[in-house]
Amino acid sequence: MDITRRQILALFPAAAVFLAAACWTSVPVFGEQVGHKTILAATPPMGWNDWAHYECRYTSKTILDNAQALVSTGLAARGYKLVAIDDCWMAKERDANGDLQVDPQRFPDGMKPVADAVHKLGMEFGIYEDAGSKTCVGAAGSGLPKRGGQDHFLQDARLYASWGVDYFKLDNCNVYVAHGETEEQAFRMAFAAEHEALEAVGRPIIFSECAASVFLGTPDRYTVLSWGKGYGQVFRQGTDMDDFHAASPNRSRFRSVLWNYAYTLPLGRFQEPGNWADPDFLIAGDGGMSLAESRSQMALWSMMSAPLILSSDVAKLTPEALAIVGNEAVIAIDQDPLGQMATLVGRSPETDVLFKRLADGAAAVAVLNRSEAPVKVDLRPADFGFAAGAECTLDAKDLWNGQEQSSVSTLQAEVASHDTIIWRIQASSQCGKPSRTGTITLTNEVKNRPYSIHSIEGYARCLTAPGTVGECTGAARQSWTFTPQGELRSGHQCMAVLGGKPLLEACSPANAQYWRYTLEGNLVNNGNLQCLTAAGPGSKPQSLRMQVCGHSLATQIWSLPN
Ligand code: GAL
Repeated sequence: MDITRRQILALFPAAAVFLAAACWTSVPVFGEQVGHKTILAATPPMGWNDWAHYECRYTSKTILDNAQALVSTGLAARGYKLVAIDDCWMAKERDANGDLQVDPQRFPDGMKPVADAVHKLGMEFGIYEDAGSKTCVGAAGSGLPKRGGQDHFLQDARLYASWGVDYFKLDNCNVYVAHGETEEQAFRMAFAAEHEALEAVGRPIIFSECAASVFLGTPDRYTVLSWGKGYGQVFRQGTDMDDFHAASPNRSRFRSVLWNYAYTLPLGRFQEPGNWADPDFLIAGDGGMSLAESRSQMALWSMMSAPLILSSDVAKLTPEALAIVGNEAVIAIDQDPLGQMATLVGRSPETDVLFKRLADGAAAVAVLNRSEAPVKVDLRPADFGFAAGAECTLDAKDLWNGQEQSSVSTLQAEVASHDTIIWRIQASSQCGKPSRTGTITLTNEVKNRPYSIHSIEGYARCLTAPGTVGECTGAARQSWTFTPQGELRSGHQCMAVLGGKPLLEACSPANAQYWRYTLEGNLVNNGNLQCLTAAGPGSKPQSLRMQVCGHSLATQIWSLPN
């Protein structure tokens, strides 16, 4: 990127919005035609990547064996069409022309034959690079060298296009931060430059951005997510799934599944067709994951409309594992064209209840059981925002075992330890359309990245009537409805601002009872234009107050029902 552009962006951050034209193209390749425009990644990408199973222990044969296995297991026909190569494919140094060189040990015949073989199987080809001068394992990166100089974003993008790359992941190690620049600004420059480079090469390439990940635990993560939406279609925004290691193949990896789920779920406001929050790879069925845990990952990822990118040795997946990751009814929930993030209806120490609207008017409900013992659940239509009343009933189908419940007034089930039940439900006409009902959470961001808080319990706290933020308990006092008019309803009461203070009162058409929800996650009161604010970050229960809205303040970033 030339210095002028860098300076423009540094001086006028808003220019990023104009420089980041959306990914429209007139040639639909993997996109879907919407009116006269084509949207890239209209549904969450599905496929396979080597990293979480092999790290650098792979060659071109590993890649092509897995591509073949996707076909022979039938997973490719069910949508797992992408075959993506992660870190370690390139040599440490560029050649005399500054071009990337393929690692000759791994790819003795170069990269193009591998891409061609993948395409010949009717699949798509993905590749990886890094926004810094070196990738995370120390191979040549595309970004600015340390102490500045020339980046290689455009030169490298031309190379990917010449190979026929369809999907591109840009990682975030070793990003150069120039003097006087913040880390967030440096990231924006690099990811904007990659976006422009991919646009310039004239091939529709889905852009997966690992920009927000390093900001996990800080409010800057939301700033990065806000501009990242304009540059790419997939956004990683947290830590990695635990990788597989042959030396300890059964070491449990479920904790990383729960953690990645926890940090992705509050991001519904950033998600829409063409913009997918990526909680990282699908390790369901791989070592360290029981069948119950594999069902959980598949169900949770599908409820979040997450990319389904397997990272395992596909030929070694058992028939039971294949049945889980290949479950067409669950895949259909993931690939639903509305692309909604699930709403966290309720969270207790043991369970999470999730709800997701679907394009055809049906919905999906899932219940995760994190605990070590089975848990009984009993859910009413009103929990999901349907009209309360005896006339409202549900038809439900358990997507794991096919069992159906017809015209029931409560959904009942027992969920095994570490398992997740997932239903497709159809509400009777008396139920009306579901309102946006569920928890309102505040994530526990602090300035120093709290990588030690790798648990759901430590990450999000729930807004609790009449007006505190504390541990999520699943109590009715933590269920809120955000109405189309902008009210925050708890039962028959509305959150209002009186005398500068937030409090619950009987609902009325007063300005002070209406709120605007912003992409940054702020709840801005229509009456005094201030933001709903928790007294402080940290995990202790906090009182609420109204404060001037600041830029990305941890105490003002809320996640609402979708
Ligand atoms: C990490 C990234 C992983 C993988 C790895 C390769 O930063 O999150 O998904 O790409 O680098 O070195």
